[in-house]
Amino acid sequence: MPLLAIESSCDETAAAVLANESTVVSSIVASQLDTHSKYGGVVPELASREHLTAIVPVVREALRNANIALDQLDAIAVTSGPGLAGSLLVGLTYAKALCFACRLPLITVNHIEGHIHAVILEARQAGTPVEYPALALIVSGGHTHLFEAREEGVYRLLGKTRDDAAGEAFDKVAKLLGFGYPGGPVIDKLAPYGKPVVKLTLSKMKGNPLDFSFSGLKTAVLRWTQARDLTAEIAARRELLTSNPRPSIDEWRAVTPQATLDMLASFQRTVIEELLRRAQISAEEIQARSVIVSGGVACNSGLRAAALQARLPCAVYFPTPALSTDNAVMIAAAAFPKLRRKDFSQLDAPAQPNLTLA
Ligand code: KG4
Ligand code: ZN
Repeated sequence: MPLLAIESSCDETAAAVLANESTVVSSIVASQLDTHSKYGGVVPELASREHLTAIVPVVREALRNANIALDQLDAIAVTSGPGLAGSLLVGLTYAKALCFACRLPLITVNHIEGHIHAVILEARQAGTPVEYPALALIVSGGHTHLFEAREEGVYRLLGKTRDDAAGEAFDKVAKLLGFGYPGGPVIDKLAPYGKPVVKLTLSKMKGNPLDFSFSGLKTAVLRWTQARDLTAEIAARRELLTSNPRPSIDEWRAVTPQATLDMLASFQRTVIEELLRRAQISAEEIQARSVIVSGGVACNSGLRAAALQARLPCAVYFPTPALSTDNAVMIAAAAFPKLRRKDFSQLDAPAQPNLTLA
């Protein structure tokens, strides 16, 4: 049952071919980081244009690497939401055109369900399948959600961020301190050199105790920055980025005093504690037999280490880094159950920027 999947919901143009539910034959991801990094975040209009340039070569390369022709496919899967409207439209329209031309069924996939299936796929490949009920913590630049998965494909939202997503908090703090975009990877690498000694108080939230809020944390970092004169070190980091878009850790450390490293460690620890505290409560509440952590922030080594040490009541699954951030393998993986059920979409299926999973 070979399947081609296309993902273009944010700033990665990706295509993958899977031979079946557990066999990845090819996976191509074209990142737009170089385009967006100079703006300190994703610029939606630029993202759509980059997808337009990349989509045809990326899909061709995925097919070529898989040594498969379009007419040998059983279906084409594509992300229909949530995401940036213009970005989604590029992938969705291209997938529809291919389906129309090759008379193939179209399968539309929810991007968040894709992140969950990245883990389900790899767990199956490893011979340790995810057991249900599962708790899924999806943490990326656009999402911070806790879902209960009672069984495959059946989700209940337990909590979500009320403001910034966890990855967005990493990105905003990094931008504020002159570390460029995206912020997660650089903070992750620098945090071990600092001590988490800065107290970052978070505002108390009313309502659902499983909801998240990261905007107060970002403000706490801003206040900390304003209370000191960091102008020179921030300027030095921005200069470093101008001369070298991918500085090494040693180069970053040379322009980052210990106090700032301590702040990064404190910030990262606070985010991790917030995520894992709610994951633990909800895993117990739903009597989870597995905990799935996925999305770009799942790459964070501090989060991985802390999750393994935390007293979670069951096995914790993280995707490999390549499947943590946006990719098309996860979209194909989420499409296979729909292919089995022949749950196909019409060729007028809309892009759904605000699509929810539950
Ligand atoms: O899943 P993803 O590629 O795109 C979205 O769906 O948003 O996630 C990108 C996000 C960015 O905010 C980035 O800073 C964050 O994931 N990220 C990380 C790490 N690697 C990527 N955050 C913390 N630690 C990392 N190692
Ligand atoms: Zn994503």
